[in-house]
Amino acid sequence: MMRRACIRSFRLEGRASARPGHAEACPSSPFGDLHGPLQQVAKTGWVKLARSGVAIFVVLCALLTTTGCDLRQKMWDQPSYRTYQESEFFEDGSSARPLVEGTVARGFLREDDHYYRGKVDGEFAKELPEQIEVTRELLMRGKERYNIYCSVCHDPAGYGNGMVVQRGFAEPESFHIDRLRGMPDGYYYSVITDGFGRMPGYAYQIRPSDRWAIVAYIRTLQLSQYATLDDVPETVRDDL
Ligand code: HEC
Repeated sequence: MMRRACIRSFRLEGRASARPGHAEACPSSPFGDLHGPLQQVAKTGWVKLARSGVAIFVVLCALLTTTGCDLRQKMWDQPSYRTYQESEFFEDGSSARPLVEGTVARGFLREDDHYYRGKVDGEFAKELPEQIEVTRELLMRGKERYNIYCSVCHDPAGYGNGMVVQRGFAEPESFHIDRLRGMPDGYYYSVITDGFGRMPGYAYQIRPSDRWAIVAYIRTLQLSQYATLDDVPETVRDDL
């Protein structure tokens, strides 16, 4: 306490003597006129207070961050598995656990049999599902997807003589034979989804809406090979 008081009075004195004119003006004060300097001290006191406030804040922040580090370190140290790491705890020896049976990701409850499985009452759906509207865009999308995923084997026109087949892969039947022309839309959807014989399924590569777009495009291909002049609009017949 003593020391602080000393320092304080020393400072006051210093300031008072720094401005000698004021010292004589107030004889009752041991240091002369201290009103002005006192105010100043009061002001600088606030500044100092603010400064020390900042300092305390910084120290607190530092403390908090180190505690945070500490927590993270603890979590880092606790027993945990790395991806695909072997486990001695689970019977199958795998640390990656399967989903609980019946788990459905939010928004993926695929109840609509027609749309997601191509079936209506357990039979292949005869038509496209109601969500699929046959537009030019849909057919163009189907064409694009077909050319990417199917034409390598089924060839661009669907006769089953794609490049992969020419290089020795099993030859699929033409989409233009009567049997396949007579197959319902749902059959094509299901073959794309689950595969057929030596053909692999494309459920992971092609999403449902695109599978239907491909089905619609295959229908277009089939129609194109059997179209008569009557199917062509009169206005463009002369161009043929
Ligand atoms: C890697 C070559 C390959 C690709 C790619 C492929 N297919 Fe196939 N597909 C085949 C073969 C081979 C068969 C015949 C399988 C068999 O009989 O064992 C077949 C069979 C089919 C059938 C059934 C025909 C029947 O006889 O009933 C359909 C429909 C079909 N494919 C559609 C598609 C569509 C649509 C795509 C594109 C999404 C596609 N395929 C992509 C090779 C392929």
